[in-house]
Amino acid sequence: MLVSATEMLKEAVEGHYAVGQFNINNLEWTKAILLTAEENKSPVILGVSEGAGKYMTGFPTVTAMVKSMIDCLGITVPVALHLDHGTYEGCYKCVKAGFSSIMFDGSHFPIEENIEKTTELVHVAHNLGLSIEAEVGSIGGEEDGVIGAGEVADPVECKKIADLGVDFLAAGIGNIHGKYPENWAGLDFNALAEIKKQIGDLPLVLHGGTGIPAEMIKKAISLGVAKINVNTECQLYFQEATRKYIEEGKDLQGKGFDPRKLLAPGVEAIKTIVKEKMELFGSIGKA
Ligand code: 13P
Repeated sequence: MLVSATEMLKEAVEGHYAVGQFNINNLEWTKAILLTAEENKSPVILGVSEGAGKYMTGFPTVTAMVKSMIDCLGITVPVALHLDHGTYEGCYKCVKAGFSSIMFDGSHFPIEENIEKTTELVHVAHNLGLSIEAEVGSIGGEEDGVIGAGEVADPVECKKIADLGVDFLAAGIGNIHGKYPENWAGLDFNALAEIKKQIGDLPLVLHGGTGIPAEMIKKAISLGVAKINVNTECQLYFQEATRKYIEEGKDLQGKGFDPRKLLAPGVEAIKTIVKEKMELFGSIGKA
């Protein structure tokens, strides 16, 4: 069932768990994540960066694939198709393409401009029944060309953006896209608690879910995080499983070169890590 992410995240806040956003790159990723969500009766958010959308030939292709796959696989759990770190133009493209949720990342604009553009996009999204995520304070590191300095969000600015009617809010609290460096200081829970005080029960989004220790994830959920984004970890699991298949020479045995066989261990690996994350986030059995 393709739905906006509003209801599933409201329920997550009330139930003290988080819903995973897993980024997709192709048919294999999408199928693996949808099947894992269905098998574990978990709501799920499919994240699509602008780079991944382009790779898949455009957002309309992505919507058509996701909708058909939900239908053909008989997926009954709530699924949101969400633009990840959208530009202003990208948001309009996804609205037109039939996404059920968008993120406008105006964190690199001065706060006044972030407010102005977010206000407009909130109206557009809500008129069409879509959910919308906004961002304050950037997420460190790089994802598909989106580079952030990683500054911690100002709680007062968070309140200003929250008051525009966004459905969930990404606030930088020391989180980073990609692998965390050895000397990473960890999540800033004081900042998170301050933000929560300002925005109340609005669901918070934790980007950079790859490699955050389990105890920090649990503490973040207890402080109001209801959506956690994971991208790099699925890529690493896929890569390791594919490397193993080839290094063991399986692609050279019989019809091991068949792409459906060659990609199968990677798909299974994605299913394994997605299930692990759903267990950690507490979303299993919630759909
Ligand atoms: P990771 O790639 O670090 O898992 O972050 C994903 C993310 O935040 C997507 O927006």
